[in-house]
This record gives sequence, C-alpha cells and structure tokens, in this order.
Amino acid sequence: MMNGSEELIVRKIREGTVIDHIPGGQALNVLKILGVSGEEDHTIAIMINAESRKLGKKDIVKIEGRELAPSEVDRIAIIAPKATINTIKNYRVTKKMKVKLPGEIRGLLRCTNPNCISNKPREPVIPSFTVASRTPTLLVCKYCGTYISHDEVVAQYTLAS
Ligand code: CTP
Ligand code: ZN
Repeated sequence: MMNGSEELIVRKIREGTVIDHIPGGQALNVLKILGVSGEEDHTIAIMINAESRKLGKKDIVKIEGRELAPSEVDRIAIIAPKATINTIKNYRVTKKMKVKLPGEIRGLLRCTNPNCISNKPREPVIPSFTVASRTPTLLVCKYCGTYISHDEVVAQYTLAS
C-alpha cells in the first residue's frame, strides 16, 4: 500500500529502479554496492529511516534511468534481504522482484582469513558462506568457520567498485 506522506517527500520516478524495503540506515551502503557515487547523470532520490509498518524503519533508493544487473541484485540481498526491486517504466511499476538471500552464498565475497583454503590460489575452491543472521548480516565461511560481518561485506564491495 502506498504511504501518502512518503509521496510528499520523494516523488515518483518516470523510468528506472526503485529499491524499497531496505533496512533503516542502509541506503548509502546499497549505493556503494551499486558503485553509484552521485557523479553520474542519474537523478537519485534517497529516503533514510522512512516509517514502515513491516520493518519499523526502512530506506528507499530511487534511481532514474538505471536498471540493475542480476549480480547487483544478489549483492544487495546480502545487506538488504527483504528489499524489493521495482522496475519503473512510464511511471508504472512494470516488474516487482523480491531479492533472495540464498542459504549458501557462493562466489560473491571472499573469506577474511588469509589462511582459508578458499584464499589459496592453487585450490579451485569457490568461497562459500552460510547465513548466521540476516539483519544485520552475519555470514560464516563454510571452510574455516570465520565470521564475516555486515561491515566487512560493505567494505569488500566498496573496494571492489
Ligand atoms: N514508485 C516510484 N515511482 C513510480 C512508481 C512507484 O518511485 N513511478 C515507488 C513507490 O513510491 C514505492 C515503490 O516504487 O516506494 C513501489 O511502488 P508500488 O508497488 O506502487 O508500492 P507498494 O504497493 O507500496 O509496494 P510494496 O507492496 O512492494 O510495498
Ligand atoms: Zn574461510
């Protein structure tokens, strides 16, 4: 359901992507994951700590003229497992997709333990993590048991982009 007061603060967009139901305070990290610096031509609206019946507080990111690649959606799922990705065309929501945080995350991150088998160049081992906690995210390396915190996930994606 549309929240009337939200529309007063952030208007609808014409073409692009709305990432909704982001945990409160995570919008800027979502932009980091997308590699959006603000220096691009896209018009971007960010709403932080909007009231949400489902999440208490939620963030919303609206990007005009940008669609997301599947790998970007997978990365967003790690820090915003309840996010909804809405594709907007001519002011209408033409596609609504819930991100999916799989039980096992493969290949999207590296383990922080330098001695982990997944970090050995000679071993054909794809880094894999299971989810210990969803909000905030806490992952466990399948091979060495090292915990990967939410902040570590964000740090890896910020450096990569
Ligand atoms: N939205 C937008 N511009 C549009 C259409 C929608 O910015 N032209 C935004 C809405 O403000 C909302 C999100 O995209 O934040 C999803 O829109 P809609 O599906 O209409 O809202 P809800 O039904 O509230 O979505 P949900 O059920 O996923 O909470
Ligand atoms: Zn490991």
